[in-house]
Amino acid sequence: MARKKIALIGGGQIGGVLAQLCALRELGDVVLFDIVEGLPQGKCLDIAEASPVDGFDVCLKGTNSYEDIAGADVVIVTAGLPRKPGMSRDDLIEVNSKIMTSVAEGIKQYAPNAFVIVISNPLDAMVTLCQKVTGFPYSRVIGQAGVLDSARFATFIAWELGVSVKDVTAMTLGGHGDDMVPLVRYASVNGIPVMELLERKYGSKEKAKEVMDAMVNRTRLAGGEVVALLKTGSAFYSPASSAIAMAESILKDQKRVLPTCAYLQGEFGVNGYYVGVPCVLGEKGIEKIIEFSLDAEEQAMMDKSVAAVKSLVDSLK
Ligand code: APR
Repeated sequence: MARKKIALIGGGQIGGVLAQLCALRELGDVVLFDIVEGLPQGKCLDIAEASPVDGFDVCLKGTNSYEDIAGADVVIVTAGLPRKPGMSRDDLIEVNSKIMTSVAEGIKQYAPNAFVIVISNPLDAMVTLCQKVTGFPYSRVIGQAGVLDSARFATFIAWELGVSVKDVTAMTLGGHGDDMVPLVRYASVNGIPVMELLERKYGSKEKAKEVMDAMVNRTRLAGGEVVALLKTGSAFYSPASSAIAMAESILKDQKRVLPTCAYLQGEFGVNGYYVGVPCVLGEKGIEKIIEFSLDAEEQAMMDKSVAAVKSLVDSLK
């Protein structure tokens, strides 16, 4: 059976970590593409030379030619500028739209059967554009945002409660912006509601709510917190890990339920826009969008987030 092939478009900070994670997990052979000559070649050579130490055995090829992505099963796109301090993700739309258009044309021509996972920001607009230009089915063009936003939320909950991150379940919905919707009601530690644990810890509903509100706020602004610290770019380890979880679920047909930026056609009352919702990811890409009920407060937050996505995406037209 042929080995799987993963093409990574963009060989910058996230692209380099993606290549290393693909290799360490032996997900398949890796092609790392960038327009900068030498960058993807150098990173692939560097990672390959770690293989005897780490004990992985995959082919890694750095390239400046789209022809090399031919036959890719999964393509992950990080091409585009990252944020600098003081910038919102939306500030990147103009420059990254041009980059995304050329990238999507390359994917369409050379990897027409691939599943595409977009990471480039502003995410909700970039994944929309990528699907439009490739013309691929919606089930094959998805965006990574929710896995990362949820992981950030779960990290803060674990730290607050002093428990392992492995036992925390938390999810965010909506767009990949400051209006995202961290789902407080469904956050749990091994099934025990986080709000109950906070109430027991602090002895009052008010204080528990105050602590949770702070974690929700930190989750919404978590990308900017990293940007402010790094000063020269945005987060790259955690976005790479998040996209790898999605790619692995597709490549291995794991059918994991992951928050995915997916094209909605009536689900959650949204029609014709990419928005973050839980999806089953398997060998067919998005195999199912999982709907569930939101209470009035959650629905209001979702509506606000969707409105922000709509105004961003409509500005592309
Ligand atoms: N085709 C391919 N690659 C390109 C193109 C293009 N047309 N234009 C730029 N690139 C490459 C750059 O050469 C660079 O190596 O994209 C890479 C982006 O890498 P970084 O600048 O290090 O950015 P990174 O931190 O990896 O983030 C990439 O993901 O999370 C988002 O907001 C982030 O939009 C940004 C993207």
